[in-house]
Amino acid sequence: MDRITIFFATGNIVKVEEAERILKEYNISILHLPMKLLEIQSENLEEIAVFSAQKAWADQEKPLFVEDAGLFIKRLNGFPGPYSSYVFKTISNEGVLGLMAQYEDRIAYFQSVIAFCSGKKTVTFKGEVYGKISRERRGNFGFGFDPIFIPDEGDGRTFGEMNISEKTAISHRTRALRKFAEWVKSTDISKFI
Ligand code: IMP
Repeated sequence: MDRITIFFATGNIVKVEEAERILKEYNISILHLPMKLLEIQSENLEEIAVFSAQKAWADQEKPLFVEDAGLFIKRLNGFPGPYSSYVFKTISNEGVLGLMAQYEDRIAYFQSVIAFCSGKKTVTFKGEVYGKISRERRGNFGFGFDPIFIPDEGDGRTFGEMNISEKTAISHRTRALRKFAEWVKSTDISKFI
């Protein structure tokens, strides 16, 4: 099958690198559309991603996808979840470790939602990875909450201590990207473009 090219609208270059690695396995190329996405306030990542994708499409009129992710901490009733980016900007990893200092239950998960929009169609794909919030910040790889998240499927290291191929082997974003890639491969997307 011919190589397919789709645009990835995001302001985060690390996400582009992660997505390129996965999608090339499916013969899908991505072109980075560097842009600050418009986001609505919602408790649901899917709603946020759909809104951002449709706004980006209205602006660019190119078949594109966006990705919205968040860290959900069980003991904090899912906080910061959809507010992850604001929480990271304001109190960062140290702030979250502080909020968690008194708790033994450190279960958390990352969720990633991809929304593809071609004007005619919007579709979403979800991926999750479960783990624990560490007691301290560890590692300099990745971005965001990577240094305080220990995936259950790993060897006790945080995402921040894993290189990009170790992280992308199990990450929430990879899982959403694989579902998206399977859909692209099994659908005649030229119908929607
Ligand atoms: P975004 O709105 O999808 O860019 O993500 C919201 C926030 O979640 C980001 O500012 C990061 O702090 C955090 N986040 C999203 N994905 C990841 C990840 O793969 N590792 C670490 N933090 C992430």
